[in-house]
Amino acid sequence: MYEIKTIGVLTSGGDAPGMNAALRAVTRSAIFNGLAVKAICRGYKGLITDEILDFKTQNVSNIIQHGGTIIKTARCPEFKTPEGRKQAFETMQKHNIDALVVLGGDGTFTGARTFAQEFNVPIVGVPCTIDNDLCGTDKTIGYDTALNTVIECVDKIRDTASSHERLFFVEVMGRDAGFLALNAAIASGAEAAVIPEVAIKEDMLAEVIQNGFRKTKNSSIVLVAESDVTGGANGVAEKVKKDYPQYDVRVVVLGHIQRGGTPSATDRILASRMGAAAVEALLDDQRNLMVGIQNDEIVYVPFSRAIKDDKPINKRLLQVLRTLSI
Ligand code: ADP
Ligand code: F6P
Repeated sequence: MYEIKTIGVLTSGGDAPGMNAALRAVTRSAIFNGLAVKAICRGYKGLITDEILDFKTQNVSNIIQHGGTIIKTARCPEFKTPEGRKQAFETMQKHNIDALVVLGGDGTFTGARTFAQEFNVPIVGVPCTIDNDLCGTDKTIGYDTALNTVIECVDKIRDTASSHERLFFVEVMGRDAGFLALNAAIASGAEAAVIPEVAIKEDMLAEVIQNGFRKTKNSSIVLVAESDVTGGANGVAEKVKKDYPQYDVRVVVLGHIQRGGTPSATDRILASRMGAAAVEALLDDQRNLMVGIQNDEIVYVPFSRAIKDDKPINKRLLQVLRTLSI
């Protein structure tokens, strides 16, 4: 059995509310189990440029409630090259780091999988992304907080939409996934959601418009997931303006506001459970997998499965939205 004495932990890719809570959980679980912890700043970049800090329990005090990540994150193109990864491995050796816990999304786990194969490094991933697009886990850290941020914004938009009797297209993040847009649409009482998983047809838009502006309604809000497939809120609005010039259309792109803010209780608990489970997995000689949650139980999912681009949207949710928006 490979003996782990020191673990490295990093946050990588897009930040997500709850990343700090996960960092705290990894650090404290590792120390609780007698391991030393090194925090690697700025994701894989810090592994290449040697930005490593010794972490003690007090380094993660007073962070569970904060959004973002105290050890910074970055996108690191150099890690996609063999030379960059070799440099990263040399930094690990220099600091006697035996294993890694990586907090991030599918890009982070794609890099981790390659790195683990090339250098035989034990790595466990903790899914942190507002997009909720990783396979094998019901939820990712940050998704619940982002969902709540989106509905808070949509509630505010509703006030002005109904006062002016307008049609709003609100663009929601998700990279190429519609989880945020669809669930936020249900939770905010929006009239419809346009998501990449369901091809947008002209008649779908027609239905939205007609449902939205029946006599009983004086405003309409459509959540549009960002994506080349949907064309984003601006793309959809352009089409609608052309075909329905009688409507007063406005577009709001929510943007990075969705990634910020204090993490919800749900995300803090998820991050605490997953961070602890990541350390347990390493101690249990497991490697090259992501911690997930299914039916409220912790599960372990191989990286190769987690990064598959096929997490299904629950189509029944679309029907709920349609039914409730009459
Ligand atoms: P996320 O993890 O949130 O999906 P990114 O897609 O930006 O964010 O990925 C984070 C980092 O993971 C990248 O900046 C890069 O360093 C690394 N990475 C992504 N894809 C690969 C890859 N194919 N090979 C090696 N490293 C990768
Ligand atoms: O993956 C998280 C995410 O916020 C996506 O929803 C979005 O497409 C992307 O990151 C934005 O990335 P950046 O912060 O680099 O603009």
